Amino acid sequence: MSAITVTAPAKVNLHLEVLGLRSDGFHELAMVMQSIDLADCLEFQNTADAQLSLRCNEPSLSIGNDNLVLKAAHLLRERSGFNELGASIHLEKHIPIGAGLAGGSSDGAAALVGLNHLWGLGRSHVELEELAAELGSDMPFCIRGGSQLCFGRGELLEVLPSPTDLMAVLLLKDPDVSVSTPWAYQRCRDLHGESYLQGESAFEERRQALREAAWTRPIQTELPPPLRNDLQAVVEPETPAVQKALQLLRSLPGTLAVAMSGSGPSCFALFPDLPSSQQARDALKTHLEIAGLSAWCCPLRLSGVRIEP
Ligand code: C5P
Repeated sequence: MSAITVTAPAKVNLHLEVLGLRSDGFHELAMVMQSIDLADCLEFQNTADAQLSLRCNEPSLSIGNDNLVLKAAHLLRERSGFNELGASIHLEKHIPIGAGLAGGSSDGAAALVGLNHLWGLGRSHVELEELAAELGSDMPFCIRGGSQLCFGRGELLEVLPSPTDLMAVLLLKDPDVSVSTPWAYQRCRDLHGESYLQGESAFEERRQALREAAWTRPIQTELPPPLRNDLQAVVEPETPAVQKALQLLRSLPGTLAVAMSGSGPSCFALFPDLPSSQQARDALKTHLEIAGLSAWCCPLRLSGVRIEP
């Protein structure tokens, strides 16, 4: 096999609950992550020359060894022990960068899945998720995607049943604004650290409550996700672009719920289907132009990164 194409979808957080602080300095989380049908596209070519190179259609993105795609490629090759493996990778960005949509993590996950296939390494999804966890907290989810409970730093995964209704999101983001994830978590700790839960049994109680939440089984329009994001409470007051996006989304009729995704600044409204999200975007057209916000409509997606036939 000499070349393959892999799609790498974005995610939104239907639930992001900060439980407490871990001994490794990260936050202990209880999340529900959901893939959406807004995806980057990666092409991998086998070069067998010990070189790993990346090109990208988006000039603002680093194509150096700090890019998660190359980090993932180096890690997979190193663990395989076959140093002569090489690949030329092209990344076509569609997911906005620095948006809280796990675009970079999904690209990294696509590199693990794509190169595992291209190089014939035979690693399972679970093995690839373990490698992904070494590179980023959101990356393990992106391998299988769909709807999953994500605990720990984000790497302890429990797959949820697929949504029975293919709801859709209207996503808004200011193209000139991004939020630093470390900043958002640090701010959360500064403001709320004193009320964090302490200890494994308190954490497990919240995990169990989320496992038992009726809206997760399965996700459906009859009982839509209430949407909770604890980082929203710390990012929204500091970020006018988030305030504006949330205000516009909340003004729309027909939304099932509205929230920020991840550490922001993307915000989204959930709709029963794609046409209703598109109608809402059309209704906001002038307001979006005035506010300088970009908008995307996309259905929920039932899977994560995918090797295209
Ligand atoms: O793992 P990732 O690179 O996505 O995390 C970026 C930063 O976000 C971490 O360095 C940490 O400051 C913060 N973080 C956290 N707790 C998590 C995930 C991320 O504190 N569960």
